[in-house]
Amino acid sequence: MSIKKIIAIGSAKGGVGKSSITASIALHLAKNYSVGILDADIYGPNQHLLFDIIEKPSFTKSNERKLLNPIIKKNIQFSSVGFLLEEEKPAMWRGPILSSTIKQLFYSTQWNDLDFLFIDMPPGTGDAYLTVLKDINIDDFILVTSNNKLSISDSLKTLTMIKKFNTNVLGYIENNLIANTQSKNKNIFNSKKINYLGFVNFDSKIYNFDTNYISDDIIALSEKILSTINKI
Ligand SMILES: Nc1ncnc2c1ncn2[C@@H]1O[C@H](COP(=O)(O)OP(=O)(O)OP(=O)(O)O)[C@@H](O)[C@H]1O
Ligand SMILES: [Mg+2]
Repeated sequence: MSIKKIIAIGSAKGGVGKSSITASIALHLAKNYSVGILDADIYGPNQHLLFDIIEKPSFTKSNERKLLNPIIKKNIQFSSVGFLLEEEKPAMWRGPILSSTIKQLFYSTQWNDLDFLFIDMPPGTGDAYLTVLKDINIDDFILVTSNNKLSISDSLKTLTMIKKFNTNVLGYIENNLIANTQSKNKNIFNSKKINYLGFVNFDSKIYNFDTNYISDDIIALSEKILSTINKI
C-alpha cells in the first residue's frame, strides 16, 4: 500500500461545504487518478450519505491485525465510521476515543495504492484536528470558507492551528453557498500569503448531491489543485 499525497480539507466553521467539495474534487480526480476519502467527521460522517453507500465493509486479517477493506464507489476508496454505526445512532465518544478512531480509520484501512487520499475534516479546532495534524503525516491542508466574516474568522483560527504544526497550506477555496458573488475578503488571505485555489458557486446538483455530475467550478478548482501540487 502506498499513498502519494494526503490532503486534509477543512475549516473550523461548520456547514461551509467541506464534505461536498471534498466529494466533488474526488469525483473529478478519480477519472484519472487513484483516489480515496477518509471521513474524519466521526460525530457526523457524511461521505457515505453523499455516495449512497449502504453496504457494510469487509475485513481482512493480516499479521493478527484486522484491516478494513475500503468500500469503492465511483472509483473512489472510502473509509468511514459511517459504515459501522447504525444510521440514527450517534457516536457519543469523548476525545481520546474520537482520536483513536480517526487513527484506526487511517492506519487500519487496507488502502489500495492511492495517488490522493483526501481527509474530510469536521468543523472545530479540537481533537480531530489535533489527531490529523499530529498523528497522521499529512502533506497538505486545504481551507474551505464561504464569503462571510464568520466563516473567514473561523478559517483564520484553523490556519493558525495548521501553521503551529508546520503543515503546508495548499490554499483556500471559496464556496459561494448563498450569493454567487466572489469575496471582498481575498485581502485577508493574500496578506497571509494563502493561495487562492478557486470558487464554487451554489449549484443545485451539489445541494442534492449528484455523483454523476461535476460542475465547471469543480473541474477548474481540481485542476488548480493539481497544478499547485505539481509546483511544490
Ligand atoms: N456549492 C454548493 N452548492 C449547493 N449546495 C451546497 C454547496 N456547498 C455546500 N452545499 C450544501 O450546504 C450544506 C453544507 O455542506 P456540507 O455538509 O458539505 O458542509 P460541511 O462544511 O462539510 O458541513 P459540516 O461542518 O457539518 O461537516 C449541505 O446541505 C450541502 O448540500
Ligand atoms: Mg462535513
